[in-house]
Amino acid sequence: MNNFHGEIPRFLHRGLQYLGVYGNQLRGQVPRSLVNCTILVALDLGNNKLNDTFPIWLEKLPNLQVLILKSNLFHGPIGDLESEFPFPELRIFDLSCNGFTGTLSSNLFKSFRGMMNVDEEKTASTSTDTDYLYNISLVIKGNEYDMRITSIMTSVDLSSNRFEGGIPNSIGSLSSLVLLNLSHNSFRGHIPAEFAKLQALEALDLSWNRLIGEIPGPLSSLTFLEVLNLSYNHLAGRIPIGKQFNTFPNDSYCGNPDLCGFPLSKECGNKNESPLEQDDDDDDDSFFMSGFTWEAVVIGYGCGMLFGLLIGGLMFLLEKPKWYVNFAEDIAQHIAANKRTRQKKRRQRRGLRMN
Ligand SMILES: *[C@@H]1O[C@H](CO)[C@@H](O)[C@H](O)[C@H]1NC(C)=O
Ligand SMILES: *[C@@H]1O[C@H](CO)[C@@H](O)[C@H](O)[C@H]1NC(C)=O
Ligand SMILES: *[C@@H]1O[C@H](CO)[C@@H](O)[C@H](O)[C@H]1NC(C)=O
Repeated sequence: MNNFHGEIPRFLHRGLQYLGVYGNQLRGQVPRSLVNCTILVALDLGNNKLNDTFPIWLEKLPNLQVLILKSNLFHGPIGDLESEFPFPELRIFDLSCNGFTGTLSSNLFKSFRGMMNVDEEKTASTSTDTDYLYNISLVIKGNEYDMRITSIMTSVDLSSNRFEGGIPNSIGSLSSLVLLNLSHNSFRGHIPAEFAKLQALEALDLSWNRLIGEIPGPLSSLTFLEVLNLSYNHLAGRIPIGKQFNTFPNDSYCGNPDLCGFPLSKECGNKNESPLEQDDDDDDDSFFMSGFTWEAVVIGYGCGMLFGLLIGGLMFLLEKPKWYVNFAEDIAQHIAANKRTRQKKRRQRRGLRMN
């Protein structure tokens, strides 16, 4: 937050742990010598005039947790990842407000272990030595905050670029992700149902893209989700019902003329009579039923066959045993009696209804 101008020094000491030049007038490129700073934890280059492509070579830094490039003149695609585990410790990934283009590779997110299964107790107990004496500025749920980096904060902000193509399903594996902002891009296709696995998510902004299809019903299981913005897409169908979805205001959905149901004033027509939640229940039912019939059929066949073989064998040996004939007649009578009482009851019921 000064008026430093010119370029970032080209040669940086390899013992560098933090580099924060946020809010200056720096131009030029990201110094390539950073690739040797293997203990680098945080790199905040936000709010400058840097003009470069994505520094994909940072993928190899084993300790990098914070990468902030927001509000610069970065451009072009993310590029091809080379390492097997790119950005293994990354927790804050902010590329917002640049000119990045191209599609997102699903490999990009697959090894962000810093955002997967973060054990809060463990990180809290070690936070005294990793509680960085360093502040970053993040947009959190729509407001910009200056905050100290804490080990439980996780964020992916790719908003206000020109990314396109589908949203990779692999983002769903970032189970400790708290903020996800993909707004103001040109993402196409459906909202991945895998987002339902982002169980730590508190804010999801997908507004101003070209997303189509229905809002996945399972998203209602995101119990920490506080801010949802799906405005200005091409989403359609009924908004899921229940849980968190009862709490979002109607301006979470503006600019999707084909969405309907609460909290919008537009009601759903007959075509979309069954809400998504019910569809899920139906699926569950049919899944349960198919399991049930499968078992019943096997048990039925098994018992029937055993019984048949047994009786067949006995008859072959004894030729029409008397006890069997009696037994069979008993059963036949029993069934007939049952049928008669059932018919009687049914007739009675019908009679009652008629009266
Ligand atoms: C997402 O980013 C946009 C601009 O980059 C910002 O205006 C918006 O408030 C952010 N959304 C959330 C939920 O933080
Ligand atoms: C969602 O974004 C739109 C446009 O960017 C904005 O008008 C609206 O207030 C936002 N809604 C919420 C709930 O943040
Ligand atoms: C959104 O809700 C407000 C009141 O909370 C209401 O006045 C407005 O008509 C609603 N808009 C739509 C599109 O449903």
